[in-house]
This record gives sequence, structure tokens and C-alpha cells, in this order.
Amino acid sequence: MPSISNKGTQMPASPIRKLVPYAEAAKKRGTHVIHLNIGQPDIKTPKVALDAVRNHTIEVLEYSMTQGSEAYRKKIAGYYAKQDIFVDSEDIIVTTGGSEALSFAMGTIMDNDDEIIIPEPFYANYNGFATAAGVNVRPIASSIDNNFALPPISRFEELITPKTKAILICNPGNPTGYLYSREEIHQLSELVKKHDLFLVADEVYREFTYDGREHYSILQVEGLEQHAIVVDSVSKRYSMCGARIGCLISKNKAVIDTAMKFAQARLSPPTFAQIASEAALETPPSYFEQVIDEYVSRRNLLITELNKLEGVKVATPQGAFYCVAELPIEDADHFAQWLLESFEVNGNTVMVAPAAGFYATPGLGKNQIRIAYVLEKEQLVKAVQILGRALTEYNKQ
Ligand SMILES: Cc1ncc(COP(=O)(O)O)c(C=O)c1O
Repeated sequence: MPSISNKGTQMPASPIRKLVPYAEAAKKRGTHVIHLNIGQPDIKTPKVALDAVRNHTIEVLEYSMTQGSEAYRKKIAGYYAKQDIFVDSEDIIVTTGGSEALSFAMGTIMDNDDEIIIPEPFYANYNGFATAAGVNVRPIASSIDNNFALPPISRFEELITPKTKAILICNPGNPTGYLYSREEIHQLSELVKKHDLFLVADEVYREFTYDGREHYSILQVEGLEQHAIVVDSVSKRYSMCGARIGCLISKNKAVIDTAMKFAQARLSPPTFAQIASEAALETPPSYFEQVIDEYVSRRNLLITELNKLEGVKVATPQGAFYCVAELPIEDADHFAQWLLESFEVNGNTVMVAPAAGFYATPGLGKNQIRIAYVLEKEQLVKAVQILGRALTEYNKQ
């Protein structure tokens, strides 16, 4: 039989999606599965975005421009200007989700065997994109014991080798909810300038910051223009995960010109979804005020409920809509599968994402899970109660 590539064999399965067959089997048995595993918000997509597609009278669904429609890119630049981020439409490539922007970024700045430094735990698919690009992840562990605070900058510097090309951060972080301070962004900026590296920031959760904290973008740092690459997406901002629209932004012309070649290979981003995403930019600020209030109250409730469970440790997120919880068990992968295969309370069980896949260091996060608080409060409370009963039962075995 012809053989599969080494790259394909090494490609990690997503910890968020790999248990789906067990969840499907549970559903077929008639068990209701509460999904805490995936960041699919239940918040409604703004009507203005859906109406733009419904009311459109396109007769030929053409390819769009490789870099995305000009009208949309100009509006994106306008959106950033409102956030004190000054970019030009030419600095933007519209992509098929933030996911494609991440793979374009890696392809553009890294060769086989190059290294990228990423604070862990991090968005699990960074492992997948790095494997696909032939790039080695050099992780820096942050700890649940201090709310996943950024490790000292000196730790980053220790990891820099001649192969290091970039530092990648997710701000606010998935899965930790960690929000970088202005000072931390400046420290990282100085470091990348000193060692002539890129600083890639995944800012897809930019709007979701809590307790009066404000997001500070790497695009706001003066003098960082040639080093800064931002990944963005409409998926979470407007609850439009299925649109598959994101973008890559950089003031570095060589980065954009090179990323354009990757973009040309895939022709263009989806046309209807760009129409919806352009219209979504008309969404009034009140939408975000309501959404953020909702996430804050869900977060507070979730943390309170989790803290009631014996032996459970949880970090309080300052942004995004995930949290990492440490459980009184040894192997969260086994526990998560057991929840789907062998446990239920009155016909209900929960699906969680085992956190080990959010780390690159083997062995870390084995007793942790990621929970997405994208469900209504009533469902969250029920899910945590089920989790509590499950832990008791599981630890009796
Ligand atoms: C941190 C982060 N970056 C990027 C993505 C990719 O999002 P999309 O491809 O839907 O834009 C996600 C999705 O969950 C994410 O959490």
C-alpha cells in the first residue's frame, strides 16, 4: 500500500474535535450531550449580516479578488481606525477564516525546521499549523497557579536560537483567557526588535475583554511595523464561525507580497461570506456591550460553580470565552471519553476538551480540561453539576 507522509502521521488530531465520534455515539444512544468543548457561541449573528446575503441579487457567484474585495478591506481599515489601529486596505489580506491567516503567516515567515516560540497552553491548532508548515514549536509554560500570567520575558530570550523566526501570542488567549498588558506587549516588541524576529498576534477575541480591561494590539506599537503580523477573524466577533472569513494584517510589504502568493494559490476567499462580513461591520457598539455583559455573567457563574467542586482548580479568564480547569484526576483524555461512553445523569452528559493538546510540552495539562462558556447560564450550571457527579463516580472506580 502507498504510504502516508511523515508530516501526515505527525499531524495532531484536534483535542476539540477528536472526541466527536464518541459524542455522536452517545447521541445515537439517546443521551443529550452538553457541549463545553467547542467555541461555537450561541449568540445570534447580527441580522444586518444575514440580511445582506438574503437580499443580495448576485446572478453569477464569481471569484473575488485574491486579497479580498476592496470595499470590504477599506471597511476593515475603518473598523481598526475606530480602535486606534491605523492600517491601510493594502495591508490586509482577507482569508478563509483566521485559520488560513495563521497558515499563510507560518508559510510566509518560516522554513522547514525553523522555530516559533509560543506561551502555552495555546490554541491547539497552532500545533497543527506548525506541523503542516514543518516548523518546530518552542513552548514556554504558563501556570494555572498564577492565572496563566505571561512568563518573564527573560524566559523567551533564553529560548531564542539562530532558527527562531517568530514569537506567537494569542491575545486575549484561548484557552486561558489571558489578556496581555500594554507593558507586556511593549516588552515583547523590544525583544523581537532586538533579535530581528516577527511578532505574530492572534487577536480574534479582541472585543472580548472583561472587568474594564482594554485590549492593546501589537499594531498600536510604534516602531514595530516591520515585525508585526496580526491574525483576525469574524468568527467569534459576530458569532459567524460558519462564514469562514478572517484576515492577515501587516505593514511589512514583503510579508503581504509573500502571503499574497499563498493566497493566489487558493484563488480567493468566499464571496457571499465577504458580503455578510462587510455588512457585519455596521453592527452597533450596543451589540458588543450586550454580548460582553452576557459573557461576563456566564464566566462569573461558571467560575463560582467550578470552585464548589472539591479538588477542582480554575483560572479566571480576563477575556475570550474559555477557561482551563484542573481536575482531581490523572488523565483528562480518558475522563472526557468516559464521560461520553459510560456516564450520564438523567440522560445528560457533558463533552469537554482535554487540555493536553493545548500544550506542546509532553505531559503538561494532562489533568486539565478547557471549557468554553458559550452556552446559556442554565446549561452551564447543569453541565458543572454533571461534571461534579461524574468526578465523584469516576474516582470511585
Ligand atoms: C485563538 C484562535 N485563533 C484562530 C481561530 C480560528 O478561527 P476561524 O478560522 O474560525 O477564524 C480560533 C478558533 O477557534 C481561535 O480560537
